[in-house]
Amino acid sequence: MLQSKVSIKIISPETTHQVRHPVLRPGLDRKSCILPGDEAESTVHLGAYENGTLLGVCTVLDNPSGTQFKLSNGQIRGMAVLQSTQRKGIGQLLIQEAESIGKKKEFAIMWMNARLHAVPFYEKLSYKIKGDQFEVPVFGPHYMMIKELL
Ligand SMILES: CC(C)(COP(=O)(O)OP(=O)(O)OC[C@H]1O[C@@H](n2cnc3c(N)ncnc32)[C@H](O)[C@@H]1OP(=O)(O)O)[C@@H](O)C(=O)NCCC(=O)NCCS
Repeated sequence: MLQSKVSIKIISPETTHQVRHPVLRPGLDRKSCILPGDEAESTVHLGAYENGTLLGVCTVLDNPSGTQFKLSNGQIRGMAVLQSTQRKGIGQLLIQEAESIGKKKEFAIMWMNARLHAVPFYEKLSYKIKGDQFEVPVFGPHYMMIKELL
């Protein structure tokens, strides 16, 4: 598979479940794929396609409520690439597109709560750990990671 053959499209919240479920919620009820803010008008869901097949997804939340940030910010959630096509650059393409959307929306900061094993992936894309490790029930240790966009 060539990264250049992959195209990033805006998709519906429900379509993200095709990848969220096997990658992020394996063995759990499909309803567990629904994330807070998924249906908000300002939320953008991205899908990475190759020859019509959805291989990866990510969601950008626009200034989600309850954050510590005073500056305009976007949260990346539901970042997932099908296991068979991981480490081929698809995650990177999705983050690049998410950041380009974030810049158009004039977010000062892009951030995510990263699963521990995904931290090196985000570090490669210049995200930095902020604060201490914390535990998310069921899903394990996480770090908040941030990147300044402006
Ligand atoms: C994390 C994930 C989204 C990364 O997507 P991906 O398509 O596999 O990543 P890419 O191929 O675009 O990787 C981009 C760079 O990060 C590196 N990288 C990716 N995953 C890595 C890892 N776990 N450890 C170290 N480096 C990693 C790649 O080697 C690549 O570096 P390079 O440009 O020097 O070759 C994907 O592996 C995944 O879905 N994992 C399971 C679900 C998950 O943990 N999601 C994140 C929740 S916060």
